[in-house]
Amino acid sequence: MKIFRRKSISQAITDFNKTGGDGDQHANSLKKNLSARDLTFFGIAAIIGAGSFSSLGEACFKGGPGVVLLFLICTLACGFTAMCYAEFASRLPISGSAYTYAYVSFGELFAWIIGWALIMEYSIGNIYVAFSWSGYFTNLIEQFGIHLPEYLTINYRSAHQAFLAGTAGEGQTAWLTAPQIGGLHIIFDLPALLINVFVTWLVFVGVKESKNVSNIMVLLKLGIILLVIVIGAGYVNIDNWTPFMPNGFGGVMGGVAAVFFAYIGFDAVSTLAEESKNPQRDLPKGMIYSLVICTVVYIILALVLTGMVSYTQLGVSDPLAEVFKIKEVKWMLFIISIGAVIAMTSVILVFQLGQPRIWMSMSRDGLLP
Ligand code: ALA
Repeated sequence: MKIFRRKSISQAITDFNKTGGDGDQHANSLKKNLSARDLTFFGIAAIIGAGSFSSLGEACFKGGPGVVLLFLICTLACGFTAMCYAEFASRLPISGSAYTYAYVSFGELFAWIIGWALIMEYSIGNIYVAFSWSGYFTNLIEQFGIHLPEYLTINYRSAHQAFLAGTAGEGQTAWLTAPQIGGLHIIFDLPALLINVFVTWLVFVGVKESKNVSNIMVLLKLGIILLVIVIGAGYVNIDNWTPFMPNGFGGVMGGVAAVFFAYIGFDAVSTLAEESKNPQRDLPKGMIYSLVICTVVYIILALVLTGMVSYTQLGVSDPLAEVFKIKEVKWMLFIISIGAVIAMTSVILVFQLGQPRIWMSMSRDGLLP
């Protein structure tokens, strides 16, 4: 049947060359600008974001210091996945990531499903990250005396639900103060929208410009996380590491969704295959290096957080800020807000880079207009 037709590897590469992938002279080819170092930086850009600045708290709260075991388990799982990606990417060094690999392995129907799954991964991932970004950003500008009205910093559904539940707070205020047009409350998260518009513009300008901005953001966010670790280490009380697994191994595994979320993104590196100078060699390197670097960072960060305060105090949406609030190191709060904003911008950037490359690959095969 037509929907199950498959492409051979050589056919996929021939199709790609026919549509302009073989050199710079074609309008729809992509320039080969990226080295192994750039790909590693893109991997780190995608991995360290809302996971470390937000959901890490929930994982530490559920698992205690033993959450570091979960990071090791997730790294192992992601490492195997990265090797599969690396194997595929070296045989098929063209854009499209898992979509293209599925086309060759299982045929068109599965490729179409995987293509849409990737589109949703990048867009839904970005929605969560953009909302978290907006939370940190509005806190940051508050410190400069700029206050955005509540109805411009929350999504419609959350505001409506808060109003219906009668929960006092940002959501209810947003619902009650929002302007209305024909009975419709005008409520939306303006910063989350604007950061996506800005990043989309940057991605549109080009991969070289995106790479330069992404590399700077990665250096800044790693610097800020290093500062958190160094300053935080001075407040560590090793008694907080006992018991190591207060809620048992089950508690550690309770944080699995949060920790896996923290790793999502390293696969987006494979959508950049076409722009890599040497995809066969550099893509596997970029993925594995970024995984290893981020795992080391996550483990040290989790040990510092759970050493600074009791794990029971970490069940918050901004754990890095919380520990310094508890220890009354006020000047760190500002730096952490800046770090979070930079880190999440880089995640949005890599996801926005991946998105059009999946569309392009699907439309090359006629599965999108
Ligand atoms: N890994 C990405 C983040 O933590 C999705 O923000």
